[in-house]
Amino acid sequence: MVSGSTAIVTGGGRGIGRAICCALAAEGADVVIADIDREEMAETAALVEEEGVRGYPVQTDLRSFEDIEATVEEVLEEFGSIDILVNNAGIAGPTAECEAVEPEEWDQTMAVNLRGPFLMCRQVLPSMKEQGYGRIVNISSVTGKRPLTQRTPYATAKMGLIGFTRTLAAEVGEDDINVNAVCPGSVDGPRIDRVFEAKAEAQGRTYEEVRGDAEAESPRRELVQKEDIAQTVSYLCSSSADRITGQDVNVSAGKVMY
Ligand SMILES: NC(=O)c1ccc[n+]([C@@H]2O[C@H](COP(=O)([O-])OP(=O)(O)OC[C@H]3O[C@@H](n4cnc5c(N)ncnc54)[C@H](O)[C@@H]3O)[C@@H](O)[C@H]2O)c1
Repeated sequence: MVSGSTAIVTGGGRGIGRAICCALAAEGADVVIADIDREEMAETAALVEEEGVRGYPVQTDLRSFEDIEATVEEVLEEFGSIDILVNNAGIAGPTAECEAVEPEEWDQTMAVNLRGPFLMCRQVLPSMKEQGYGRIVNISSVTGKRPLTQRTPYATAKMGLIGFTRTLAAEVGEDDINVNAVCPGSVDGPRIDRVFEAKAEAQGRTYEEVRGDAEAESPRRELVQKEDIAQTVSYLCSSSADRITGQDVNVSAGKVMY
């Protein structure tokens, strides 16, 4: 049940996270936006409030246990409960052959993409167990399932998040807490456009050719939209998905089928 619930969305300041905040708000949830970027959080909060629910930004650096602990405490004090947690924030990490990845870059990628979701769950679970209800969605990636060369830290974290999702789902199912992962394919928008442009320049090809290659990987010959991810998250948090847990749901226009 999304309506009337309180949701925390990490990395809700922009991109997919913002779309998730708006989708949950449209279904009637109050939304806490936990992000490092103050200005972007404020913009998302304003969009959330247009839906007639509360949009509540809390500056949180997911690399900091103290920040996470304080954020969860503040939300419980302010809203009384946390019903939905979406671990969306993630960083790309370095693009380099494995032997050129600096240990510090590895640690930073793990800190945001894997340790952050673990700590958020760790802090939120006691109150979810107490109320006997919770819906957790972890945003992984198709890169959690298939290789992406020169991105070992990111791929490792995203696959780790799927393992974390399955094991946590098995631990907390009896408390009516569902834990699922969503695995997006490349999401259309300015970010992927910059990647395509850089690749085109590096390969002496056109933007259209590089984009065409990416689209051709999908049976539907297209990329996905951030709203596709948001709607899937919203569905997994709804009562229609009460008996769906421990899953990793691809939203990739068919690019990945396992
Ligand atoms: N965009 C894609 O094509 C794509 C594909 C597959 C998976 N994903 C995953 O989806 C999620 C969202 O991706 P996006 O493209 O919207 O990213 P984005 O970079 O546009 O947004 C990420 C958000 O996370 C926040 N953030 C970063 N580090 C943080 C930290 N230490 N503490 C708190 N917040 C932090 C940023 O401020 C930002 O608001 C990520 O986990 C990403 O790995 C994205």
